[in-house]
Amino acid sequence: MTAQPGDSVTRTLDIPGLGSVTLRRLRPTDSIEQLTDLLHRAYAKQVAMGLHALASHQSPEVTRRRVSRGECFVAVVTSDTPGAQSSAAAATDRLVGTIMFQEPSWGGAPTSGPRWFHRPDVCNFSQFAVEPTLQGKGLGVLLLDVVERRARELNLREIALSTAERDTDLVNFYRRRGYRDIETFDWGVTNYTSLIMSKSLA
Ligand SMILES: CC(C)(COP(=O)(O)OP(=O)(O)OC[C@H]1O[C@@H](n2cnc3c(N)ncnc32)[C@H](O)[C@@H]1OP(=O)(O)O)[C@@H](O)C(=O)NCCC(=O)NCCS
Repeated sequence: MTAQPGDSVTRTLDIPGLGSVTLRRLRPTDSIEQLTDLLHRAYAKQVAMGLHALASHQSPEVTRRRVSRGECFVAVVTSDTPGAQSSAAAATDRLVGTIMFQEPSWGGAPTSGPRWFHRPDVCNFSQFAVEPTLQGKGLGVLLLDVVERRARELNLREIALSTAERDTDLVNFYRRRGYRDIETFDWGVTNYTSLIMSKSLA
């Protein structure tokens, strides 16, 4: 596979009892079913709060379509066993985290979607998830670093996200990382009002 900007392994993290976690782009050999299952497991936390995000129940076909619209990054557990460097072993890497980066390129109707996402200097991320048993160990912040770095590589001015307005812990997690409230929006495919947040990359 030809290397692209942002294609390098961005960081590894040692998690006790699990080993080394590598951050990289999603590869054609990665399982979309496994990625979908990971999203379902992670977003179950929001479902328990009564928030039905698309990622909590989307089919593998929907995941495939969504990842094809941008750049999907994953955190994978790498094996220390002999032969782990072979492509066969790499194909069995376990996905434990993901985030999806999208360049500014509003594909919908000019009157649809949050107005902030229409701006030519605002990229966004979505499908952000970490394996529930591994949350709170810093993986999520590392994945955020990946997309923010990618946005800077592309000289973009802002990176935005859409989250459930009612998930105040998550909203505060983003605020602590420099994201500010922009506008509320109803996507029509969820049962809650979303809050659009954005961070200046200046
Ligand atoms: C949102 C989500 C991806 C964050 O992932 P995460 O791996 O838990 O995030 P992190 O561990 O990097 O950060 C979470 C907290 O743990 C803290 N943390 C970081 N390293 C840590 C460590 N080694 N030990 C303990 N805590 C640590 C962070 O400081 C952060 O706390 P703070 O915000 O109070 O500062 C994850 O909670 C998730 O999958 N949620 C469900 C899906 C979802 O809601 N996605 C977003 C939709 S918009």
